[in-house]
Amino acid sequence: MLLSETVNLLFSLLFMLSIGHGTTKDVKALCSTCKQITENFNKGFERTANKNFGGGNTAWEERKLSKYETSEIRLVEIVEGLCDSSNFECNHMVEEHEEHFETWWFKRKAKYPDLHHWFCIETIKVCCPKGTFGPDCNSCVGGSERPCHGNGRCDGDGTRGGNGKCSCDGGYEGEFCLDCAERYFSEERNDTFSLCKECHPSCTKCSGGTAQDCEECKDGWEEDQEGSCIDIDECSKDPPPCDNAEYCLNTDGSYSCSVCDSRCSGCKGPGPGNCSACSEGYADEEGTCKDVNECEQTEAVCTQEHQECVNTRGSYKCQCASGFGEQEGLCVQQPEADDSQEQPESDAEVPNAAQQLAEHDDL
Ligand SMILES: *[C@@H]1O[C@H](CO)[C@@H](O)[C@H](O)[C@H]1NC(C)=O
Ligand SMILES: *[C@@H]1O[C@H](CO)[C@@H](O)[C@H](O)[C@H]1NC(C)=O
Repeated sequence: MLLSETVNLLFSLLFMLSIGHGTTKDVKALCSTCKQITENFNKGFERTANKNFGGGNTAWEERKLSKYETSEIRLVEIVEGLCDSSNFECNHMVEEHEEHFETWWFKRKAKYPDLHHWFCIETIKVCCPKGTFGPDCNSCVGGSERPCHGNGRCDGDGTRGGNGKCSCDGGYEGEFCLDCAERYFSEERNDTFSLCKECHPSCTKCSGGTAQDCEECKDGWEEDQEGSCIDIDECSKDPPPCDNAEYCLNTDGSYSCSVCDSRCSGCKGPGPGNCSACSEGYADEEGTCKDVNECEQTEAVCTQEHQECVNTRGSYKCQCASGFGEQEGLCVQQPEADDSQEQPESDAEVPNAAQQLAEHDDL
């Protein structure tokens, strides 16, 4: 015995609890557990291929102890590596069927070299041969050779669970996965074989792969005189699809609207060089909307005494000149001593800058 009877019993109890509901999903899981076990068995078999009884097999030892290659010691080493210690289902299955591994190892291996087939399918009956499903291993829809005609997955394929029905791959539909789905056309088809390909992006129904083969255009595309589906240029429509402060960008089958540069009043593209007209405070300079410096205009914009003009983006400010402060709408001289004592240092760097008499901001 490889593990104690007590552990075995405990596993059995836990296992009965875990499959208490006996759904088809559990049956599928049993098969994949079994498959994992037999795969690990094959790996363990390879891993131990060049081993021997520790010290090296002398001729005497070989005669006396029988070969390591076919020994119980090698079997135990392989079986120990079949499951992660945390994998309950795996450990349980190995425990429950431990004697089958011994039977196969000593008596069946030569006649039935495929352990998965002998153990999972024939002996403990949790799996079925490829292309078959369910308790009796019936053929999948479309036959066991090419389930779902090669265009889908058969439910329960290779397990004792499932219903054998197909879930078709992308592009295929129908019980047998022989029909083409929407936006696909049939390139080749007979009773047992079907090849579907995708339509051109401009159509929803088609008889071939190009825009000329459309039977129905997708939204955003329209039929031209020759019967091809061509992109609709939404941007050239009347009325235009975008807002006044936006420009339009046509794309295949669609379009998008983006906000104009703030220097533009209406535009045909991105940036200040694509304006239809300039925003207030900006003027066209060689095709680009640039800020107007109101302070340099021939007619002064800040007209009060001791006022100075400060240009801003798209506008300007009138503020009291250095040493003057605003009082009742006028710029008056500031008492210098008081000023330097009361004002914190950071403000002193730009004296009176914050004091505005007027701001002309049109944006
Ligand atoms: C169906 O077409 C496939 C692919 O061309 C071909 O291999 C197969 O023999 C055909 N079957 C019949 C019944 O014509
Ligand atoms: C105007 O817009 C086009 C795209 O519509 C862009 O390629 C071009 O660079 C823009 N011109 C300027 C001067 O920004």
